[in-house]
Amino acid sequence: MHKLIFATNNQHKVDEIKSIPGINYEIISLKEAGINIDIPEPYNTLEENATEKSSVIYKLTGMDCFSEDTGLEVEALNGEPGVKSSRYAGEGKSFVHKDSIGEKNIEKLLFKMQGIENRNAQFRTVLSLMLNGTEYKFEGICKGIILAYNKGEGGFGYDPIFLPLGAQRTFAEMDMEEKNRFSHRKKVMDKLVDFLHNSTEKNK
Ligand code: IMP
Repeated sequence: MHKLIFATNNQHKVDEIKSIPGINYEIISLKEAGINIDIPEPYNTLEENATEKSSVIYKLTGMDCFSEDTGLEVEALNGEPGVKSSRYAGEGKSFVHKDSIGEKNIEKLLFKMQGIENRNAQFRTVLSLMLNGTEYKFEGICKGIILAYNKGEGGFGYDPIFLPLGAQRTFAEMDMEEKNRFSHRKKVMDKLVDFLHNSTEKNK
């Protein structure tokens, strides 16, 4: 099966994507590809960071690859924390729920939202695919609201305070299958899977 590197060090994201059925490529993580680097996210937009990450890995390996950058965009905070979601409360990166960085990010967001009635927010993922040296971009959005307190033990990042539109439980209360019914990453991955499927069919 054709290999596709997922340019992330976040194992949680890799597991989420591997759990989606119907991908006619073998998705491998940076670790599985033997690449041990921390890819920079130097820009102020998700779009630019996604391109940066896939370009770095493509230049390094010459292999087909993709990367994604995700932000939680809160309406009442003009889209904050957005591209800074992982380091909202300071440097370091939040990969797992329950780590201190993730908890501090949540604390800061809840503090900033104290007394704010408009709780509307969305997770937005931008995915950059490098296929045969050409870049393709996709977007996935999950709308929801920000709770005033943590609810649930699972997931990572802002999952315990995010209630997706149409759901009764936060992302942190859902198993992966249920999260995939709502999630921004699943939506963008569905677009990727469709695209890869169509491009494989065309090349047959
Ligand atoms: P990244 O820069 O794309 O790795 O993600 C930015 C940050 O957004 C992560 O570190 C998390 O804090 C947050 N994030 C991304 N996806 C999710 C999700 O599915 N649930 C909760 N938080 C997420």
